[in-house]
Amino acid sequence: MLNTVIVGTQWGDEGKGKIVDLLSEHADFVVRFQGGNNAGHTMVVNGKTIISHLIPSGILQQKKCFIGNGVVVDPFVLLEEIDYLASNQVDVSSDMLKVSSRAHLIMPYHKEIDKAREEKKGDKKIGTTGRGIGPCYEDKATRRGIRCCDLMDLELLKEKIIAILEEKNFYLEHYFHTAPLDKVQVINDILAIRDRLLPYIADVSVALHKGSTSGKVILFEGAQGTHLDVEHGTYPFVTSSSTVAGNAAGGSGVGPGLLQEILGIVKAYTTRVGEGPFPTELFDETGERIQQTGAEFGATTGRKRRCGWLDMVMLKNAARLNSLTGLVITKMDVLDDLEEIKICTAYQHQGKTIHDFPPDIHTLAHCTPVYETLPGWKQTISKITDYADLPDNAKKYLQRVEELSQVPIKIVSVGPGRESTIIKAPVL
Ligand code: GDP
Ligand code: IMO
Ligand code: MG
Repeated sequence: MLNTVIVGTQWGDEGKGKIVDLLSEHADFVVRFQGGNNAGHTMVVNGKTIISHLIPSGILQQKKCFIGNGVVVDPFVLLEEIDYLASNQVDVSSDMLKVSSRAHLIMPYHKEIDKAREEKKGDKKIGTTGRGIGPCYEDKATRRGIRCCDLMDLELLKEKIIAILEEKNFYLEHYFHTAPLDKVQVINDILAIRDRLLPYIADVSVALHKGSTSGKVILFEGAQGTHLDVEHGTYPFVTSSSTVAGNAAGGSGVGPGLLQEILGIVKAYTTRVGEGPFPTELFDETGERIQQTGAEFGATTGRKRRCGWLDMVMLKNAARLNSLTGLVITKMDVLDDLEEIKICTAYQHQGKTIHDFPPDIHTLAHCTPVYETLPGWKQTISKITDYADLPDNAKKYLQRVEELSQVPIKIVSVGPGRESTIIKAPVL
């Protein structure tokens, strides 16, 4: 397998975890390059479900995993996840996992601010996961974040926490009218886990470079999706990191020349969790049916996901922004029962047809989808493992997605399990 980047093409939850787990078999290293524990990546192996939020999904295949500099790391969640995986017989020793010394730490005040902000915004909220992601990236950009390497020097760490807490507590108390954090407690809590964390911290950039020059194959695991990207997504209803493939390099500390294959994961319909415009959203019985059949509940927050038809304006946007070399279509089986299936090919806005994803949410909120309707296949496809055995109407649907996106489909997923997969074209 070539070095491969996995990115979501929609608003996250496309099934990246399943595909990373599947492809990890052919990789040596698996790297997360952005986001944090706002992600929820589900893997189903031998009927058992494992959800990872922070640790790369390659860990189930026991490949060497890395958390890159572009990730924001909640150290408490990291240790909990190590324990959770260990209790499921997955080895997450410090030989298996390295966390970049340059990665920023999500601190307790980031979580407090995330929640207080959402509460204050009321019905104008973004619908964040409340994990402190935005406030942590904010501190990174304003150069007052605490990084993993800061855990090395105890005195310096204490000094930094005391200095920043003065400001954060003022903000919490006087702007949000919530309780300030106790600096002794914040320091003691982090000191209590410091010794466990230290063996995991390393220069991930150097490790990846060394591996790559000795022929190791790297799989880059994106979190969220292209339309949650802080620059290219439905701003401000986005996450706070760059979710597109280009950031696989910057966020893991390798040069862009190492990114060879770029696979866009596409759910056969569209979902979104949290607020923000969604042109093809369904408010009818079909939307309800997709939500139920697809078990569309957030893997991190348990929230019900909003559902709608596949949107090619979005997919073409993702193909361009990520230089996609292949598509992976997931959850095809969820559409099995439908009489007909729609694909949005363009938007109508104020009497004009739009083919390019608009930059502002006000335009997007007033876009009406232009649909093409295809016949459903009305057949259970979840046991099919050979492309040739798919019903004709399922093949027609996939062919139309390829034609409209101009990107070849390489894998089709027909169930949550690792085995419920059709390899259409070689990616290995
Ligand atoms: P991720 O965030 O992109 O990794 O996706 P999530 O794990 O949040 O959500 C995808 C959900 O769909 C999970 O519950 C997966 O187990 C499930 N899933 C993945 N692929 C398929 C598929 O082809 N068919 C069905 N029915 N479920 C799938
Ligand atoms: P995976 O990797 C779906 C959404 C949140 C919210 C917005 C901002 O599992 O696909 P944040 O907490 O990041 O500041 O929230 O982004 N969001 C996701 N939606 N899948 C995800 O990750 C998401 N991570 C964040 O719901 O709308
Ligand atoms: Mg998810």
